[in-house]
Amino acid sequence: MTDPVRRVLLVGFMGSGKSTVGPRVADALGWTFHDVDRVVEARAGKRVADIFATDGEARFRRMEDDAARDLLRRDRVVVGSGGGWAAVEGRLQDLPPGTVSVWLRVSPEEAVRRAGRQPGERPLLDVEDPLAAARALLLEREPRYARAQHEVDTTGRSPEDVSRSITRLIHRSEP
Ligand code: S3P
Repeated sequence: MTDPVRRVLLVGFMGSGKSTVGPRVADALGWTFHDVDRVVEARAGKRVADIFATDGEARFRRMEDDAARDLLRRDRVVVGSGGGWAAVEGRLQDLPPGTVSVWLRVSPEEAVRRAGRQPGERPLLDVEDPLAAARALLLEREPRYARAQHEVDTTGRSPEDVSRSITRLIHRSEP
């Protein structure tokens, strides 16, 4: 028997639109949206970039996993993970029952363009050649993102259009 859909997990690279599209999907479903990065920031009392700078990436990754696991225990939620969480082998194969995972796919060019609108927010792209960094990270991460149950391409599409596609997917996943 299929589990009823109780939560949606959005995964994908930085700039794939998880936190833009997530609240719209949540609205359409009558659920709430939670962003893992924002939960980490609230718990740490500082921005992600400051956690990277002062506590280091390893500490951030532990906080990120704790926050993601806490959010994935809730029902009627759309959860936006940070781009690195689902890039760890095994994460998308071990989700609580009732979770529908969706990979928001984006090209490295568009990811860098979108991330450029929020300077200083993404330490991994805050490097001399962000496009080369994005290409290298995507190459390494895409096989893991691809473990999501659904894949939605976001490149060149509006948040409204992408949200509609995801909402349709969720309705279709309902048993
Ligand atoms: C990261 C993505 C960021 C944030 C951190 C690391 C990554 O989140 O968690 O800067 O490793 O891809 P967004 O995907 O929401 O930008």
